[in-house]
Amino acid sequence: MIVLGIETTCDETAAAVVERSGNGRGKILSNIVLSQVSEHTAFGGVVPEIAARAHVEALDLIIAKAMGEAECSFDQIDGIAAAAGPGLIGGVIVGLTTAKAIALVKRKPLIAVNHLEAHALTARLTDATPFPYCLFLASGGHTQVVAVRGIGDYVRLGTTMDDAIGEAFDKTAKLLGLGYPGGPQVEKEAARGNANRFALPRPMHGRKDADFSLSGLKTALRLEAEKIAPLSDQDVADLCASFQQAVVDVVLDRLRAGLRMFRAKYGAPSALVAAGGVAANQAIRKVLHRLSFEVGSVLVVPPLELCTDNGAMVAWAGCERLALGLTDTLDVAPRARWPLDEVAAGKAAGQRNAAYK
Ligand code: KG4
Ligand code: ZN
Repeated sequence: MIVLGIETTCDETAAAVVERSGNGRGKILSNIVLSQVSEHTAFGGVVPEIAARAHVEALDLIIAKAMGEAECSFDQIDGIAAAAGPGLIGGVIVGLTTAKAIALVKRKPLIAVNHLEAHALTARLTDATPFPYCLFLASGGHTQVVAVRGIGDYVRLGTTMDDAIGEAFDKTAKLLGLGYPGGPQVEKEAARGNANRFALPRPMHGRKDADFSLSGLKTALRLEAEKIAPLSDQDVADLCASFQQAVVDVVLDRLRAGLRMFRAKYGAPSALVAAGGVAANQAIRKVLHRLSFEVGSVLVVPPLELCTDNGAMVAWAGCERLALGLTDTLDVAPRARWPLDEVAAGKAAGQRNAAYK
């Protein structure tokens, strides 16, 4: 089974071709990602209107490149998958409409994939991870702990009350004049900073649930920075190190609670799986290792290019759904908001969406 996947929910225009063999193993035939970072840098974050226009301009070419690299024609493809949300609606419309057009003209099944589901299932593409597993999804837009029990069977155990972790990194970088995207810059500065210099809070620490809160940490950092302004290079490094250490402590505590909830409800998970751009952070990876060791669980962290937004994860989720006969009709609607636990396996997204119109 071969599926083309299209991803346009944020600031990456991406397309990929993925093959799923009879035994359920996946193989990436091509994976093309065009980042729009340079177009948003001047604004210190993603501008939705610019993103949507950039997707329109680039998507045809990116799809052609993905098909070319996979040495595949549309006739050889078994299905077209597109991320139908959640995300910036302009971009989602561009990707989903393009997928519909190809599906209509080539008479191929359409699979409207939830972007979060695509992140959630990536571990099965890379490592064939069996269900059920505990997913830690941390990106610029999401911070969630999810019990992944099967295709379309996701239970959110925890989520952020305010900012996502990646968003907190980005806002911290912006505050300290470090540019966008902020995660990698903050990590770089933190490497030469003193993590103990500033006493920052660890929001939600010790709570039984697995929810996160990052906005108080961000505010505390701003207040510390204002107290000592103007900032020297060392001040910036120390602020970054103190911030990153606080995030690491928060992740350890909140995920520990999430894994406890998982065990109580579903027994031992087959693995602790990380996804999203924040999983690129070495300090966070380290704490995930520590935690998986502590609970005696396998740790699966897909390679960086599959942790951040890409087309292969969408194509793979498309494969998994198509293998179960879960396809969508051409009137399936793009969704700006689409919580993971609303993704059901029993019905195709087209039918499911009808209920939300
Ligand atoms: O998954 P992703 O590529 O895009 C979505 O948000 O969907 O994640 C991007 C986020 C950004 O907020 C970025 O600052 C963060 O991931 N990020 C990092 C690192 N690399 C990327 N955060 C912390 N440390 C990093 N090394
Ligand atoms: Zn994402």
